[in-house]
Amino acid sequence: MPHAMRPAAILELVKQGHVEALIATYGPGTWRIYADLDVSMAPDGPDELFDVAASLIRPGDVVLDVGCRDASHLIGLCRRHDITAIGVDPVPVHIAKAAEVVSVAGLADRVSLHQATLEEAPIAMQSVDLIWCRDVLEQVADLPAVVRAAARALRPGGAMIVFTVLDNGLTTSDRELLAHHRGVVPANMDSARLMAIYAESGLLLEQTIEIGTRWREHAEERTQPVSRKLLQLARLRRQRDELTTTYGPDDVAHVEANLHWELWQFLGLTLPSVHVLRRDR
Ligand SMILES: C[S@@+](CC[C@H](N)C(=O)[O-])C[C@H]1O[C@@H](n2cnc3c(N)ncnc32)[C@H](O)[C@@H]1O
Repeated sequence: MPHAMRPAAILELVKQGHVEALIATYGPGTWRIYADLDVSMAPDGPDELFDVAASLIRPGDVVLDVGCRDASHLIGLCRRHDITAIGVDPVPVHIAKAAEVVSVAGLADRVSLHQATLEEAPIAMQSVDLIWCRDVLEQVADLPAVVRAAARALRPGGAMIVFTVLDNGLTTSDRELLAHHRGVVPANMDSARLMAIYAESGLLLEQTIEIGTRWREHAEERTQPVSRKLLQLARLRRQRDELTTTYGPDDVAHVEANLHWELWQFLGLTLPSVHVLRRDR
């Protein structure tokens, strides 16, 4: 049996070991890793989605933007391709802005806009060649109804491009926070459920592109939006009571959840993904 060491001797050994760990902590190896991590990996930005669309669009196509917001993507698609376009969004201020932007762009003869949810919009059956659905599915109230409406609007063989954000391991406390987000419907971020809804609607998944952190890195390298959100989050937490008194608990809780949205993407807790779907013939 080894001779038992006195506690003071053990502590001395631990301290010595820790000094070695400190030397490694501040050693050249770690600094070199930080330096490597300061180099951009030249990530693609969100224009990648236009490249995906370009591989699917043909001249003369009818393109539908579900959840078009201010029509900026519709205008981008019209400028890149000889198409006519339809924009749908239920929020009045979005459609008003979209109408203004489309008019200023001189595209009113090629773009029609509807203030409605996709399920309620007057889109003729099988009249659309391509659906562009960017950052919308995680926000719709009735996911199966929206996907069914999209499949109905597509002509047989038509394609749908979805960009959405999937749950990739949010913790219980993240989910509790997300429940306060007014726009996001957390159940829509369940990948297995989404796949089942596509299949039930007759949409075949042709391609999945994991965007991961690329678009976020692209933005952060340019304008640091998430750094700003972290700063806002810190300030929100330090003055939660005052903000709650001024704006009410629901607005403050929503903003706190929304300030985590991109951060979760950076941490890999959510997974931004593109799906290319094809309507069954
Ligand atoms: C996060 S925004 C994304 C807007 C735009 N597609 C983009 O990428 O910037 C989500 C949009 O989906 C719209 N939306 C929510 N439910 C919808 C539905 N059932 N049908 C159509 N649009 C919907 C919202 O009004 C909002 O403008």
